[in-house]
Amino acid sequence: MHSFSDRERGLGKVISFVPTMGFLHEGHLSLMRIGKERGDTLVISIFVNPSQFGPGEDFEAYPRDLDKDLELIKHIGADAVFSPERDELYDERFQTYVQLEKLPDHLCGITRPVHFRGVATVVSKLFNIVKPHISLFGEKDFQQVAVIRQMVKDLNFDIAIISAPTIREDDGLAMSSRNTYLTSEQRHSAISLYRSLQKAQELVNRGQKEAKTIVEAATELINSYPDTDIDYISICDPETLDAVNTVNGPTLMALAVNVGKAHLIDNMILTT
Ligand code: PAJ
Repeated sequence: MHSFSDRERGLGKVISFVPTMGFLHEGHLSLMRIGKERGDTLVISIFVNPSQFGPGEDFEAYPRDLDKDLELIKHIGADAVFSPERDELYDERFQTYVQLEKLPDHLCGITRPVHFRGVATVVSKLFNIVKPHISLFGEKDFQQVAVIRQMVKDLNFDIAIISAPTIREDDGLAMSSRNTYLTSEQRHSAISLYRSLQKAQELVNRGQKEAKTIVEAATELINSYPDTDIDYISICDPETLDAVNTVNGPTLMALAVNVGKAHLIDNMILTT
């Protein structure tokens, strides 16, 4: 991978990079299409990163299908796919992590305390290996994009971070590799995340600005669906992720709900 990237850079090519954990869907493919447009050489990584899963999380169960992924990537036309083995990135003496001080203390970082350390670490490693000029991330993982942007700034990576909109199923469910965990009944309950975001925007449109009232309405809506267990619903500043009391101007509403064994997340920028 190092020599491939060095060669492309030597030829003056702009390398665009989409890191993934595989089991690809339209959300991933949308990032690849943008990457192809913005750069000359498109690199995809597929690596289910153990360091971003906490104890008891779904590292082992996380869905994997490399052959199908390679088939999908072939249609897009990537120039390289980097799919290392676990011990190529983490050998038994591995001991260096990238840890952000503040952004992980919000939203998903509260119930997943090692998650963003794992993400920041593996993305740093991948940036050092792939040496991209541009890297693409999905807004579905809003906090992840914030963490990566901050890390790139703090550690002076010479890489442009581009974020792209969430791709959804026809009924609004955000596409996710974890949707595969859902039974058909749970699949129905999973719509409650997007419905609650839409409901929040409707309330704001009708003049409701109190975060507490909006969160209560979203909670009630989600709880009315079977097999849902809310992790968090937060209305917050899109940059710092600090909770706000009122919706004034563009404000992030982010939520995580366990539906059966799937930990699902979604978000929307509420606008007044
Ligand atoms: P993964 O969940 O495979 O996602 C890879 C990229 O696809 C991320 O940038 C994610 O935000 C984006 N993505 C996922 N679902 C999307 C959707 N419905 N619409 C648009 N984009 C979507 O995120 C990770 O992997 C890992 O944390 C990783 C960054 C690869 C580090 O291990």
